[in-house]
This record gives sequence, C-alpha cells and structure tokens, in this order.
Amino acid sequence: MGVSTAAYQIEGAAAEDGRGVSIWDTFSHTPGRTLGGDTGDVACDHYHRWAGDLDLMTGLGVDAYRFSLAWPRIQPDGRGKPNPLGLDFYDRLVDGLLERDIAAVPTLFHWDLPQALEDDGGWLNRETSLRFAEYAGIVADRLGDRVKRWITLNEPIVHMAQGYAFGSHAPGKSLGFEALPVAHHQLLGHGLAVSELRSRGAAEIMITNNCTPVWAASDDEADQVAAMIYDGFHNRLFNDPVLLGTYPEFLAGMLEPVIQDGDLETISTAIDTLGINYYNPTRVGAPSQDELPFDMKQIDGVPTTAFGWPVVPDGLHELLTGLKTTYGDALPPIYITENGCSTDDGTADQFRIDYLDGHLGAVKRALADGVDVRGYFVWSLLDNFEWAEGYSQRFGLVRVDFDTQERTPKDSYRWLASLLRERG
Ligand code: FCB
Repeated sequence: MGVSTAAYQIEGAAAEDGRGVSIWDTFSHTPGRTLGGDTGDVACDHYHRWAGDLDLMTGLGVDAYRFSLAWPRIQPDGRGKPNPLGLDFYDRLVDGLLERDIAAVPTLFHWDLPQALEDDGGWLNRETSLRFAEYAGIVADRLGDRVKRWITLNEPIVHMAQGYAFGSHAPGKSLGFEALPVAHHQLLGHGLAVSELRSRGAAEIMITNNCTPVWAASDDEADQVAAMIYDGFHNRLFNDPVLLGTYPEFLAGMLEPVIQDGDLETISTAIDTLGINYYNPTRVGAPSQDELPFDMKQIDGVPTTAFGWPVVPDGLHELLTGLKTTYGDALPPIYITENGCSTDDGTADQFRIDYLDGHLGAVKRALADGVDVRGYFVWSLLDNFEWAEGYSQRFGLVRVDFDTQERTPKDSYRWLASLLRERG
C-alpha cells in the first residue's frame, strides 16, 4: 500500500537550483488556462518540505511512495548534460525514503515536459521519444542502485487528449485527431526507456495507463459501436501495443504515417507489471455531433465527488477482471497506481473514507477472482495543484493550507493508518 503524487503538483521551487521551464509553467502562466490563474510555482513547497512529508508517510504506515521526477530539473532543456542539483534533490528524497523503509517508485514522466522540447514539437515530434530514453538512462545511472521499481509514463491517454487534442492541459493544443502521433511517440519513448532502465539493472518496470470500463448508453447498435470506439481510444490504444504489440485495427490506419519499422517491437518490450489509474467508469452513446464519434453521457444514481466524478467502486472490479479476460496470459501483475477522490475543503472527509473503503473492497474481489494485483496507491498524500482546476480540487489524505503550507491529516489519514496498523 502506498501513496502517489506528481512533481509539478507538489514540488513548487519552480525556478530553483537550475530547474528549466516546463510546459506546465508556460501553460499555467498563460491567462485563462487554469482556474483562478493558479500555478505550480509554490504548490505544496514539497521541494523544501519533503522530509516532513515523508514523515507523514511514516505516520500513515505505507511501504511505498509513487512520485514523479521533474524532467526539467534533471535536463533543463530536455537534452544533454544533466543538472547535478536536480539529481541531488531526488537522491536526497530516495535516501530519505529508504531510511524510513518506504520503497521509492518514481514515474519518469508525469506531464511536465521541458518547454524547449515542446518548442520543437513536443510529443508530436519523434525526436522527443529519443530524448526521453536518454533522460531515463541519466536518472537510472544516478538512482538505479536504490530504486528497484520504475514507472515510465503516467497516463499517456490524458496527456494526449487533454494536452494535444482538446487543449485543456499543457501544452494547450487543440488538434483533435491530429494529436494521435502523440500516442505513438509517447509509447515509443516508453519502449526505448524500458531498455535503458533494464540495461541498468532495473528489477521491475511498468507503464501507468488511465483505464476506464466503458458502458454503452443502450443496447442499440449505434451506442454499442460508440462504446467500442471510445474503449479503443481510451484503453486499448495504450494497452494493446504494450501488451500485444499491435494497435486496435481501426486506429492502426490513422497511425500508419508515424509508425516506423520495428516501433511496435520496441513498444512491446516486455514490462514486469502494469500500472492502472482508476477513477470512474465512462458511459458513452452514439454521436450527436460531427467532431467526435461518441457522446459522453452522465452516470445517474451514484454519488459524485467534488469534481463531479461518479463514484462506482464496482467499476474497478469490472476493469480488473475485464483486463484479465481481454489480455489473458499477456497481462502482467497489476498495481493500482492511482485511485482517490476530491472532497470539499475540510478534514472531516468521511466521503473519502467510504470511497477508499469501497475501492479496496473491489480490489479484494478482483484478487479473489484471480486477478494478480500487487499493490494499491492512494491519490494523493497531499491536497495539491490539480492541473487546470488549480487548487480548487482537494485529493489529499492530508489537508494543505496553501497560504501557510500547514499540513493537517484528515480523518481519512487516520482511518488508513489504523487499517494498515491492524493489517500489520
Ligand atoms: C490523474 C492524474 C493525477 C491527478 C488525478 C486526480 O489523471 O494522473 O495527476 O491529477 O488524475
């Protein structure tokens, strides 16, 4: 059991110790892009308060911490010689974790691309995949003696869709289907990084995909087809090539111009485990407009989080057993690398306790049904910078006062701590 965070959402210290500019700095500083103009300049000031934050994990009793490395701290321009001060920070963090008997589980890329790479096309440019592999090698050289479990990418679907297709996240491009090469180049970067990590002795490597069970709005054929298409874009576009070495048929043609010989072999380089981020199922119906081949539909009759996301713990059981059915022996053991909810500002968060309790129950049922789930990470340790929503959505087990940086454990923190104590 662990907790999960991401660099841009908690670190702050955006201009310190030689850190370069990331696309999220640029985006959040562009008027109108984030709620209230919030930025990650300070965030949870974790860059300076990391030791106290690790103590909070000790108090919780977790044995693993999933965090991400800020690429622009390590290579300010995304290429070439590393910035020693950036690497030093993660070195201290990893040592601090080991001192506390908490396994370090770094994610190499959680959306904060160095701006200099974006200026050359970002993930639309194949070159970024090569740069990502170089960066993976640099961090493995420095941390690989102590880090055993690595995650390459976080949620390439969300980065492609929100960042390049719809423009609601950095880098803020609204390319529609023209964003598809971003999927291929991220996956290629993943495959190349796997080899870099492996050659430096990594024991366990995974990719984290955001997955959702897709529910057709009705039995009508048009709704069923829309659901299949949505499933293709959201889930299979990222799971199939990694696990099977193929793209879903209806997407392969669209990707053809950017696929080069050998790419799918690289992308399907064996991984050890699969990271799954689950928040909610998705209900879709036949399109009522021309832009997209599906309509997003509301899920009625269930509670919703502060974000308005439907709470369906059974969806996690459905997702896990569904993955097993779809991929069979090609499915490696799974980690739930993110699961959690946003609640209103306050520390009496019974809503979060119920959410986590329900989802842990779903994982238990999936285990009983033969799905090999190795671990579960709560999103998130701290209230943090929730991307386009700024500081308005609070996902933490620990409340953060963003004026004073005071941390206050919520009821859910105490609930989880006693659960882990009882479990021993
Ligand atoms: C996921 C992101 C994570 C966080 C949660 C709420 O999509 O990976 O950074 O924002 O959603």
